[in-house]
Amino acid sequence: MKIFITRPIPEKGIHMLKAKGYDVVVNEAAADRAATEEEMIAGATGATAILPLLTDKVTAAVMDAGLPTLKIIANYAVGFNHVDMDAARARNIFVTNTPGTNEPAVAEYTIGAMLNIARRLNEGDRATRAGKFNTWGMWDMMGDSIMGKTLGIVGLGKIGKQVAHMAEHGFEMTIVYQNTQQDDEFEKDHKATYCASLDAMLPLCDFVSLHVPLLDSTKHLMNVARLKLMKPSAFLINTSRGPVVDEQALVDALKAGIIKGAALDVYEFEPQISPDLLKMENVLLTPHIAAGTREVREKMSEVAATNIIEALEGRAPPNLVQ
Ligand code: GLV
Ligand code: GLV
Repeated sequence: MKIFITRPIPEKGIHMLKAKGYDVVVNEAAADRAATEEEMIAGATGATAILPLLTDKVTAAVMDAGLPTLKIIANYAVGFNHVDMDAARARNIFVTNTPGTNEPAVAEYTIGAMLNIARRLNEGDRATRAGKFNTWGMWDMMGDSIMGKTLGIVGLGKIGKQVAHMAEHGFEMTIVYQNTQQDDEFEKDHKATYCASLDAMLPLCDFVSLHVPLLDSTKHLMNVARLKLMKPSAFLINTSRGPVVDEQALVDALKAGIIKGAALDVYEFEPQISPDLLKMENVLLTPHIAAGTREVREKMSEVAATNIIEALEGRAPPNLVQ
């Protein structure tokens, strides 16, 4: 059985698949770029499983190339917006993701990003390197504390919960959250407050952190009107998917002082970034690295491989998203 891996991943998962006797084909050509549609179609042809990375679009045409053998698309990611879910459903192809892998890494990144923008670390680093540290000044580069501030979590999945945990335990932050469902246990454990709507939550927050998947219903969740509901002193952090934020609306809000700053790990037109953002001192910009720790990347390869093995051995893969 042929397993097509769209870009190189850590060896662990590859070994697990090879140990089962599968014919593992890794698209080595895409080591430092997204797989092309041509590579995706060629790789899918005759495959029983596709293991795509988040840059690699699994379209209906790619799935059709894999038929009739293709049984599972085992994402190497938690997000699955790069897979045409309707097309997979119509073709009875399993789609899985890798929950239980990247939460600590994304949560660490989120806390780090929050500290970074509030305490102006990158801005200070840039100033220091530029020779602007001439004397100590008590007013210089004054930041904002995160201790005891209010953090709004949008989307209370595993990542949102982990962020809340670190923020509450480490920094005594007050947690408010918005989610499709209320979670009594979480509220009790973290002294958290549920907000029935995002519009009701935003005015309360000093920091707003996004942890929703990209769906039709979450595209441009943060739009002009919602950014205006935030405090002018507040910061927005996005580690989810770029299109959850209307990037032009965010640029306009930052320029107009509607919010104080932002930390972005993902972009609406990734890897393109609005040129205006590149010029702003009050934003932290990173290249979609929130989940990128050695520990997580290896674990993700194991989880994706396990999903494939379970499906191909006739059991239900543990991390079905549909
Ligand atoms: C990373 O962005 C992921 O979805 O795993
Ligand atoms: C700050 O550096 C202080 O010593 O107060």
